[in-house]
Amino acid sequence: MKIAVFASGSGSNFQVIAEQFPVEFVFSDHRDAYVLDRAKTLGVKAYAFELKEFENKVAYEQALIDLLDKHEIDLVCLAGYMKIVGPTLLTAYEGKMINIHPTYLPEFPGAHGIEDAWQAGVDQSGVTIHWVDSGVDTGKIIKQVRVPRFEKDTRESFEERIHDAEYQLYTEVLEILGIKRRTASDCQVAQ
Ligand code: GRF
Repeated sequence: MKIAVFASGSGSNFQVIAEQFPVEFVFSDHRDAYVLDRAKTLGVKAYAFELKEFENKVAYEQALIDLLDKHEIDLVCLAGYMKIVGPTLLTAYEGKMINIHPTYLPEFPGAHGIEDAWQAGVDQSGVTIHWVDSGVDTGKIIKQVRVPRFEKDTRESFEERIHDAEYQLYTEVLEILGIKRRTASDCQVAQ
């Protein structure tokens, strides 16, 4: 089972995944994303191109499909990929694409889940990993976990606890889906 990770920004989830599982490549839709630096340090192949470099989203997503097909990817792991997957990519990879969302879906879908949960004053939020479908954070849930919000929490400490839960959940879900952990020889290759 070959996996690819898509990330738009920092890539802390990517890093945790790549430290524990062989990642065929990481893709970023931003050429200056920090995730690309992380990939370099970890010795993971990285690709970056931007939607605005293409005539339209169909052409952009077709380029992604070509990349995924070329690497014979079995599972695409979205981890902070901040674009809605369009019909072109979805048709080609539905059932082979998962996403992490930093709330307990269906609570607080969308791009600002942590902030929305914080502003709503919840006493617990969570993290969800789900299959990607045509909706925004609506696909079938694979696994989710609750994360408490404590009275003494700041926005930062709350967010940090959610990210820690994300890292743990992604690892668990990849194991559930049958992805084998890195072996010592994978690690040598990456050095
Ligand atoms: C994560 O909280 C993820 O759930 C959300 O965006 C964030 C990405 O963080 N969709 P990182 O790039 O993995 O550090």
